[in-house]
Amino acid sequence: MHQALNTSVVRRLGARLPIFGFSHSLEVVAAVSRAGGIGIWGATRSTPEEIREGLEWLVEAVGDQPFGIDLVLPKGMPSTDDRAVMESQIPQAHREFVSDLRGKYGVLDDGLPGVRSRFVRSEEMAARQFAEIMASSVPIFAAGVGSPPEKVAEAKAAGKTVISLVGAPKHARYALDAGADILVAQGYEAGAHTGDIGTYALVPQIVEMAGDVPVVVAGGVARGAHIAAALALGGAGVWLGTAWLFTREHDMDPVIFDKLAAAGSADTIRSRADSGKTLRQIKTAWTDEWEGVDAPVPLQMPNQDILVGDFLGSVDRHRVEPLMKSEAGQSVAYFDERTDVETVMKRLEREATDSLERIAP
Ligand SMILES: Cc1cc2nc3c(=O)[nH]c(=O)nc-3n(C[C@H](O)[C@H](O)[C@H](O)COP(=O)(O)O)c2cc1C
Repeated sequence: MHQALNTSVVRRLGARLPIFGFSHSLEVVAAVSRAGGIGIWGATRSTPEEIREGLEWLVEAVGDQPFGIDLVLPKGMPSTDDRAVMESQIPQAHREFVSDLRGKYGVLDDGLPGVRSRFVRSEEMAARQFAEIMASSVPIFAAGVGSPPEKVAEAKAAGKTVISLVGAPKHARYALDAGADILVAQGYEAGAHTGDIGTYALVPQIVEMAGDVPVVVAGGVARGAHIAAALALGGAGVWLGTAWLFTREHDMDPVIFDKLAAAGSADTIRSRADSGKTLRQIKTAWTDEWEGVDAPVPLQMPNQDILVGDFLGSVDRHRVEPLMKSEAGQSVAYFDERTDVETVMKRLEREATDSLERIAP
């Protein structure tokens, strides 16, 4: 291993490699940490009970390796989880658009919720999710969107390392003022919620602002060359999300897997159709429909979650192929076959070492 990989973040967290693996799959998270990286569990769509159980499982599965949990904590969410209130705010034209899609693609209305609508994003739910995290021994708390100063302070007081994901200098200023220990500078290329600034343009700006606070690079990382570049830009590590969708540890419907495997970098698009905020995903009939001239403008979060959540749940349960999809970043082009977490980690380490040897033997 090249000594440049032994970064401040690696030393601080007690990992072996400066590679963070973000995933909604507990199996992926555990495997990343066991392979020497830092697995981060995306739990924003998990109930407080699921968070408690998931963290208990992770503590057992990773032993003394570092790992963390991520919640998305946007500003301006309703105070309580009241779906009836939310439903009453949805305009008729939006309902009709979704109902027309149901007819056009034959999506059964089975009366069940989807991932986005099983509960309404609210301050109350976020507080309960966060309380489970504070009650657990998980060493790292990551704030995906938004870094509420009181939550950052509470997590730090509980002895946790706090990581804030930022996509623009103004987010970084907010996270630094809130007291974040590590920033993740996440560029436009990244899968899921992402901003307007490309990784290459973003990272040095954030590094310059951050001073002694380490900056980890996210968005488009797929090869060891990206790791060497991230370190050259001033980063202290990398954070990957798209890569793990191709691993055996990640449950994935074969229809979606094939779409991901076939996709190149130009086959992803940012759409507000899922959550109300720009979410990078592979292009499908779903994103095409919302790009259409007659499509309504998506609602704000969390109303858009509620407008489309049950519908998207039915799409997956009944496997309506044209609409089946996944979040993914532009790095999707680098992956086309099923692999496993350990293989990805070993390859990243080997390639990063080769790239660094070429630059600084
Ligand atoms: C399927 C998927 C789901 C994601 N969900 C979240 C999330 O819930 N919270 C979050 O902070 N980031 C989420 N992300 C973004 C990742 O944390 C990460 O920043 C991003 O994937 C890095 O860029 P990459 O996709 O180019 O690897 C998600 C990414 C993917 C691919």
